[in-house]
Amino acid sequence: MSKKKRVGILTAGGDSPGLNAAIRGFGKTAISLHGMELIGFRNGITGLVENRFQELGNEELAGILTMGGTMLGTSRDKVHKFPDGEGGTYNAIPQIKENFEKDDLDALVFIGGGGTAKNAKRLVDAGLPVIHLPKTIDNDIMHTDTSFGFSTAMGIATEAIDRLHSTAHSHHRIIVVELMGHRAGWLTLGAGIAGGADIILIPEIPYSIERCADYIKRRAAHGRPFSVVAVAEGAHDTEVAEQLAAANDLVSHAQSPAAKQAAKAHRRAIEANERDSTFRVAEQLEAATGLEARVTILGYVQRGGIPDAEDRLLGTLLGGAGAEAVAAGEFGVMIASQNGAATPVPLEEVAGQDKLVPIDHPWIQAARNVGTGLGD
Ligand code: F6P
Repeated sequence: MSKKKRVGILTAGGDSPGLNAAIRGFGKTAISLHGMELIGFRNGITGLVENRFQELGNEELAGILTMGGTMLGTSRDKVHKFPDGEGGTYNAIPQIKENFEKDDLDALVFIGGGGTAKNAKRLVDAGLPVIHLPKTIDNDIMHTDTSFGFSTAMGIATEAIDRLHSTAHSHHRIIVVELMGHRAGWLTLGAGIAGGADIILIPEIPYSIERCADYIKRRAAHGRPFSVVAVAEGAHDTEVAEQLAAANDLVSHAQSPAAKQAAKAHRRAIEANERDSTFRVAEQLEAATGLEARVTILGYVQRGGIPDAEDRLLGTLLGGAGAEAVAAGEFGVMIASQNGAATPVPLEEVAGQDKLVPIDHPWIQAARNVGTGLGD
């Protein structure tokens, strides 16, 4: 009798709704349909390096579909720069390979976002059989129409914007609400449109505060002396956007490792300066319009709690398809969602790429059609 396939699964990067649905989707299909054995590494890459895991059977997978977060825990550790406990890092790939052998594994399943795709690719390049399942509330992973977590986060943020409207309206205030999304505007654009934000600011469209202020003043002149401004955490005004574009240019054209380090440090300094930019937006709008402004940072509320139906469905679909890929011996791929179907995409086409909102995307046109200001 041939040996049962034994698979290690982990969740890495920021948590998001739908992770447990994907673990369950993969696990149930792998165990019941393909007779595989499954172990779950604790806390992402950390558990893989430290070889801390639990056996996962149908019992452990029962009842987790609707749970938020991840039953396995997560971390943002990297395989090639793992903390050495003394403030430095080391390449943990040899240790991971050793654990893979020791645990008698045949495959690894990484569930995570862009950073996790890069870690998966590093291990594939080192000769390990890995597949990746795309999760993130940011929806910024290339070649997948969407990722689990996004739909739930968009629903939560939409409800928050709805609620902010009535308080903005009652007090005749500007409410500036900051949403997550990393360097992409998907979450803010989607929730901003669905929640009817008056102005939506996203990283892909650098904004002018003067234009935003004019827009708010026009609303006030037409009897609406209140506005809700949805700002993506990665949005910048035109001046900072130019500085960042120049810094990115320096990073990509650096002639030596030292020059690259310096260019990256310069870029980090610009980004650090921008950390409180949502408060600056509120202050500037208050000064320019004469209306009182308040700030709400939605933060981690956006990725906590139970997944919605769409994310449960997507996690189950992609998880199950991941198990089929492992059974077929298809590795080095991310299982993407494309036109409603689960489709394997080579990891080299995914890792290191950010899916930003195209300027001609229909959502942008839809926002403009209904008169939403985009700060440009
Ligand atoms: O990638 C998901 C995300 O929630 C981003 O939207 C946000 O920029 C980041 O994670 C926050 O990271 P952390 O959990 O490390 O604070």
